[in-house]
Amino acid sequence: MPGVARHAKDQARHLRNLIRSSSSLDGPLGVPAARQATTTTIAIAGGKGGVGKTNVAVNLALCLAARGARVTLLDLDMGMADADLLLGVHTPYNLAHVLSGLRELQEVCVRLPGDLRFVSGTSGVERLANLSEFERCRLVRQLRGLEAINDFLILDCGAGISRNVVTFALAAGTVILVTTPEPTALTDTYATLKVLVRQHYGGSIQVLVNMVGDRAEARRIYQRIAEVSAKFLKYSIAECGYMLHDNHVELAVRGRSPFMLRFPKCAASSCLMAVASRLDVNRGRESASGGLFERVVGLFV
Ligand SMILES: Nc1ncnc2c1ncn2[C@@H]1O[C@H](COP(=O)(O)OP(=O)(O)OP(=O)(O)O)[C@@H](O)[C@H]1O
Ligand SMILES: [Mg+2]
Repeated sequence: MPGVARHAKDQARHLRNLIRSSSSLDGPLGVPAARQATTTTIAIAGGKGGVGKTNVAVNLALCLAARGARVTLLDLDMGMADADLLLGVHTPYNLAHVLSGLRELQEVCVRLPGDLRFVSGTSGVERLANLSEFERCRLVRQLRGLEAINDFLILDCGAGISRNVVTFALAAGTVILVTTPEPTALTDTYATLKVLVRQHYGGSIQVLVNMVGDRAEARRIYQRIAEVSAKFLKYSIAECGYMLHDNHVELAVRGRSPFMLRFPKCAASSCLMAVASRLDVNRGRESASGGLFERVVGLFV
């Protein structure tokens, strides 16, 4: 295990160096934005399963951390929590222990190589929607503690439009909807978008098109969603970026190691570095009011 941890640490150092050295090639990339007082909370969602949400959440979090931001990744996928698998870590405690009151959130939050903090999730739980007033207040107090010590909170919300997914997406200042060019993924993305807009979401909804052949395909897909959103929902979405279809992603998943660490120069890593750079430059410019978890509480009551 120490050998594995050291290897991951070396990979993380390599990623940080790569990001630093690439700053001369790509404007803002590698230049940490001025520190903002507020935390940017990003919910990674999207209607369809298997479109790459967890890969985006894990690798984006690592990339932002490598840029020098303080980042915590929370696996809030109550259906199929598997960010720990992608990260290749096993944590003794997870969100279930927090929900049941056995552990404090800080005890569950682990620090990983690459300076990333991580809260492991729990599967098959709808319980979050049924917390008692006391439990809810306790959880919110603990989550608020996380906001105070982070520049970014990245929430892997899971697939679908269950109450939990929608609650956390609505509570975040930024939602990244991950889709692929597949018609079913686009339909599900639109369905999620519709729910958020109908619930008067106050933050920024961005679309990330994954598994595309080239940039032009990503643009076409994005524009199609943006047009439908403007026409039928009267809502302007924003372009988050894209990720090329890249076999390194699957290789890294099989090796239980994030592609950003294992293959920092692969096409998928370069795409996410560009996304991270934009998000970092806009850090703290959330439009929704109040802290993330005050909004969560407001949604549950
Ligand atoms: N850019 C990519 N190129 C190639 N394969 C990819 C890419 N992104 C994701 N994949 C493949 O898709 C699989 C599913 O990815 P991931 O687990 O991140 O999806 P998900 O949206 O989180 O799924 P779920 O809805 O089940 O939570 C990965 O194991 C990987 O093999
Ligand atoms: Mg997932």
